[in-house]
Amino acid sequence: MQKTWSDLDHYIESHLIPQDQKLQQVIDNTDQYGLSNHLAVAPNQGMLLQMLIQMNKAKRVLEIGTFAAYSTLWLARALPEDGYLLTIEGRDSHARVAQENIQQAQMHVDIDLRIGMAADVLNALPKDTSPFDFIFIDADKGSYPTYLELALQFSHSGTIIVLDNVIRAGDIIDASNQKPSIVGIRKMFEALQNHPRLLSCTALQTVGSKGHDGLAIAIVK
Ligand code: DHB
Ligand code: MG
Repeated sequence: MQKTWSDLDHYIESHLIPQDQKLQQVIDNTDQYGLSNHLAVAPNQGMLLQMLIQMNKAKRVLEIGTFAAYSTLWLARALPEDGYLLTIEGRDSHARVAQENIQQAQMHVDIDLRIGMAADVLNALPKDTSPFDFIFIDADKGSYPTYLELALQFSHSGTIIVLDNVIRAGDIIDASNQKPSIVGIRKMFEALQNHPRLLSCTALQTVGSKGHDGLAIAIVK
């Protein structure tokens, strides 16, 4: 099925996703550094992130897990010139490539890349920092419950939170799989369930060029 899923993603892309030199440059440069673009979102998923930001007229966006900044550019594309995008990457080696990719892209909006643990970076922000309107969580899956709570601390009523890779080809319902990443995602589902700070949330399975996975979306109450 993987070939069909990939072919269909390419069909969708060729019809609906405009070619973007800047996005392509990120993919190419990331390849050159020997990092796997499999960890990046697919183009049609990037477009979904862009659209969620546009629908919500979000101006302040937070990304936890920059990787090589491909998704970062999709988030930035959606923002007006006075928008603000904070993206946090925990791994130096990824952040170096991300910084280069961000610099080369010369986006119309300021992209603030910080290196460190998300909790440290966020808790070091000035006390009067405004909450974020849109938050994309796409970092180490074992920490998803922590990142969700952190995201909520920096949210306001109406903030949209999206979490990537919450299905993992079905591993999350394989009870014998006790990998920290999978346990982290299950704990995230438990946290989402009847969370007092959420207005609504769901998760969707996705298939495509990135395999069988999915994303969770929540709206803050
Ligand atoms: C992995 C991580 C991701 O964020 C992703 O989108 C795909 C794969 C991984 O760690 O395998
Ligand atoms: Mg991901």
